[in-house]
Amino acid sequence: MSSKKWLLVVGAALVVALLALTGCSSQSTTTEKKDTTATTAKAEKAKGLVEQVKETGHWKYFGLQVAKGPDGTKAGRYGDNCISCHSAVKMLDDKDAKLADFFPGGKYDGKTEGISCRVCHKWDPKEGITLQKTGWAACADCHTSGAKPTLGSEVHHPQGEMVKGIGVGEVADTPSFKYSSVKDFACYDCHVTNSQKHDFMVPGVTSVHDQKDWVNRVDTKVDYAKMADMFKQEKCQGCHADSNKTVDTIKQQQAEIGKKLEDLKKVYDDWSKKTATMDKNDPKVKAFKDGATYFTYVETDGSKGVHNYQFAKALLAKAEEKFATLK
Ligand code: HEC
Ligand code: HEC
Ligand code: HEC
Ligand code: HEC
Ligand code: HEC
Repeated sequence: MSSKKWLLVVGAALVVALLALTGCSSQSTTTEKKDTTATTAKAEKAKGLVEQVKETGHWKYFGLQVAKGPDGTKAGRYGDNCISCHSAVKMLDDKDAKLADFFPGGKYDGKTEGISCRVCHKWDPKEGITLQKTGWAACADCHTSGAKPTLGSEVHHPQGEMVKGIGVGEVADTPSFKYSSVKDFACYDCHVTNSQKHDFMVPGVTSVHDQKDWVNRVDTKVDYAKMADMFKQEKCQGCHADSNKTVDTIKQQQAEIGKKLEDLKKVYDDWSKKTATMDKNDPKVKAFKDGATYFTYVETDGSKGVHNYQFAKALLAKAEEKFATLK
């Protein structure tokens, strides 16, 4: 079967899945009655993806967070703008939705759909199932620090900025090789995502969550032998024929950046507490905050340098320099 035709079939199964998932399943019974063995097989394939996505933080996060209850602090100090990357209803159905709407008695009570299929995909009768946004934006529009990182403020999930190498303070713009020089590349080329795989992780990488509060991802475990699978994709072979060599480089770079992050984290934790009670005009407070910008840029990116090794190194060198003045 041509890939286009295949896409159409999977897409049809997906529409059924989407309807079921968004609570309109009663309307889809007529479609289901026409099921042939072939479409059932394809539907099972699509179901495989649904099962995979349901295991991810993308899917579960918002529901778990809301389940903590309407108490603002318990639900994670959420402001109404926060949910613009966490709730499908806010993103797609009602831009004015407020966090309070999702709690018992609110107009979206029980509608805690997180980052579900329809957040990333749309259905097109000609093209089949396609992305809402393609290329870097498909992931980086959420995986962003929001505004351009500024000296003195902490940075959160800046994977987009890290790959693009958006400079801050004394560190100049330093785009990664993949961003500057490889055509048609995107996050999901390394975080392999296709008709078979939808956990959004790099092959061989699994996340470690806080046992007491699952929404906090505390670390990842890496099986480097398995990571080499990333390069089995046709798109990579031309430049990465020897994938083990690249994996060895990644392993070494992650060890180096990881060690540096660990050392700086001690200073960061220590001085986060100290500066909380200090006069905000104390030069040490400024030095700490500037250092914290460089540090959190790399720390909360979460890739331990893989997204942009040279840039991560430059940021951590600056963090080290600022933190050294605190002694
Ligand atoms: C976080 C975003 C995201 C979510 C959520 C998501 N997908 Fe995907 N999906 C992608 C990306 C990225 C691709 C790869 C697109 C490409 O390579 O052009 C993809 C590809 C696919 C494909 C293969 C299409 C093709 O071109 O070969 C199918 C089928 C699919 N997704 C179904 C689903 C289903 C079903 C769900 C929900 C259970 C889902 N996706 C949720 C991002 C997502
Ligand atoms: C609509 C916003 C949004 C989009 C689009 C999005 N993400 Fe995420 N991503 C999130 C949120 C929110 C979390 C946090 C979930 C959690 O920690 O429980 C997350 C978590 C992750 C994680 C950690 C996974 C885990 O389960 O521990 C990875 C890896 C990831 N995303 C990769 C991607 C990739 C690759 C894409 C593009 C195909 C993408 N994301 C698109 C919002 C998004
Ligand atoms: C060159 C390949 C590559 C590209 C491009 C890439 N990543 Fe990664 N990413 C990785 C690797 C490898 C890791 C490290 C896995 C580990 O050690 O936990 C990682 C780590 C992460 C993490 C931390 C959680 C995890 O899965 O380990 C997130 C979140 C993430 N990437 C999202 C993104 C987003 C969003 C983009 C696009 C803006 C992107 N990545 C682009 C390879 C890549
Ligand atoms: C621009 C999109 C966006 C906005 C706005 C946003 N988040 Fe997130 N959030 C994300 C992404 C992406 C992740 C996962 C990134 C990662 O873990 O590296 C995430 C993860 C989280 C997590 C889980 C952290 C973890 O350990 O993985 C919490 C808690 C959270 N966000 C709370 C908030 C709060 C509170 C606000 C408002 C102040 C907010 N978010 C606004 C995109 C966003
Ligand atoms: C046009 C050639 C080219 C293609 C195609 C290519 N790469 Fe690379 N890749 C490179 C080069 C060159 C480096 C070393 C970059 C550097 O030193 O900054 C690299 C490095 C990497 C790294 C290590 C992290 C980093 O960015 O330094 C990962 C992971 C990676 N590539 C993944 C992939 C994957 C996955 C594919 C296919 C989806 C791919 N590459 C396709 C040339 C390519």
